[in-house]
Amino acid sequence: MDQERQSEELNRRNAAFDNRLRPSDFGGFVGQRKIRERLELAVQAAKDRGESLDHVLFSGPPGLGKTTLSYILGEAMGVSVKTTSGPVITKPGDLAGLLTSLEPGDIVFIDEIHRMAKTVEEYLYSAMEDYAIDIMIDQGPNARSVRLELPRFTLVGATTRIGLIAAPLRARFGLVNRLSYYEPADLAEIVTRSAAKLGVDIDAEGAAEIARRARGTPRIANNLLRRVRDYAQVKAGNFITGDVAKESLGLLEIDPHGLDEMDRRILETVCAKFGGGPVGLSTIAVSVGEEPDTIEEAYEPFLIMEGYLERTPKGRVATPLAWTTLGIGR
Ligand SMILES: Nc1ncnc2c1ncn2[C@@H]1O[C@H](COP(=O)(O)OP(=O)(O)OP(=O)(O)O)[C@@H](O)[C@H]1O
Ligand SMILES: [Mg+2]
Repeated sequence: MDQERQSEELNRRNAAFDNRLRPSDFGGFVGQRKIRERLELAVQAAKDRGESLDHVLFSGPPGLGKTTLSYILGEAMGVSVKTTSGPVITKPGDLAGLLTSLEPGDIVFIDEIHRMAKTVEEYLYSAMEDYAIDIMIDQGPNARSVRLELPRFTLVGATTRIGLIAAPLRARFGLVNRLSYYEPADLAEIVTRSAAKLGVDIDAEGAAEIARRARGTPRIANNLLRRVRDYAQVKAGNFITGDVAKESLGLLEIDPHGLDEMDRRILETVCAKFGGGPVGLSTIAVSVGEEPDTIEEAYEPFLIMEGYLERTPKGRVATPLAWTTLGIGR
């Protein structure tokens, strides 16, 4: 198998695994309490009035539950969820085809909505607001615009890059939810529930050990659990204790602080190359070979939350914790 096919296969298997562990209702969705409450309330209110749900936007780093919540909304409203993604809708006609095929109340889930073409985005505005779309048909002297009425639908958008969502689009969402990294206790609970679904025993220490290294992210927690489960099955009678988790995660060389490779590179840049800072975002970006916005939206929030990095008016500054964690003196 060539490398691309191999990684496609890996993605497919990971997606299947995501689906298997994905909670299907609010009761199974751990953490993000405020967001959950707000959504449950909106669902109840819409159902009581017999209306469709307001348009919903989810933003936040990968693996925190945006797709999961979208399906939970469909389940709770008792409607179907039609899924697509920003880069797939390239022409206004694609959008029109999708929206005209809906039943009233249905949810259209657009993943990576920040990657939708600008020309299509403008059609979405009237679709979201007026439930109608004006499409040009024919060309030259016969060209004319036709108005297509749409059923009342709910648009659910998900993005890892809220900064790239144009203000007019953002303003058309009634419910804007920014998901944040999970507390260790919530992650431990997710691990415990996933273990039950996978049929492996785990104690509180085992769950805490996995949660600690999961970078605040349910998807990473579940992936680590999957690896630890293999180890437990072969070496520990299918029971994950704190020690079993520690041994297997050590064997896999999983970072004990939950830092991934890019996290480390960012910290190393600030500490080793720039003496701990202050150093500007764009300088860090060039040095690690990543887009500034990606660093700002996908990496920094975690590093700041965990106390490795500080944002100051003059730039980013590494904390003493960053130095000790990297094991280098200043
Ligand atoms: N609050 C939660 N409770 C339990 N499990 C969760 C929760 N959030 C996410 N998960 C688990 O993590 C996995 C990843 O979540 P999901 O696919 O919803 O993330 P996402 O935000 O859509 O990520 P991406 O940006 O990569 O699309 C899911 O399969 C689910 O099992
Ligand atoms: Mg998703």
